[in-house]
Amino acid sequence: MEDRLRIVHYPEPVLLSVAKPVSDREFANGLKAFSEEMFAVMAEAGGVGLAAPQVGRSTRLFVMDIPEGDDTPAIRAALINPEILHVEGEQTGDEGCLSFPGIFQPVKRQMRVVARALDAAGKEFELDATGLAARCILHETDHLDGIVFLDRMSILKRDLAKRKIKRLQKRGEW
Ligand code: NI
Repeated sequence: MEDRLRIVHYPEPVLLSVAKPVSDREFANGLKAFSEEMFAVMAEAGGVGLAAPQVGRSTRLFVMDIPEGDDTPAIRAALINPEILHVEGEQTGDEGCLSFPGIFQPVKRQMRVVARALDAAGKEFELDATGLAARCILHETDHLDGIVFLDRMSILKRDLAKRKIKRLQKRGEW
């Protein structure tokens, strides 16, 4: 039995690397257990999205569990080898990341995303998402490309976040 998955923190190199597509062999070996464990780790940490590199696995898979919003349905899904097909609009809102505990900063993202991915059984599906769900899909897809939300902040907010990370590291709280 594998060790329990653990969330890695910035600047762990796996977070800054482009992840590999999930292979046919990985599908054959089964991804259901891995994605279910990712859902569990994410829920325990209080997140709405978690990408495989965040648990030290450089593979193109993420899970998301978004509660129902005012105008948006709940979305709970594992996305494997996801592709962004279409984006539109714009939103700015506070964003966090389980690999950056305690850091919340405004990030500008697109308002709507259409994405295509495979599920754990290898079946293709599409998601048309807005608001928080769109923000989550963009944030998690970035993780698969080695991009972290620091890279999406304004220079001012990025410097603030980096200083806070340094302070937390010095205190051994990172
Ligand atoms: Ni993140």
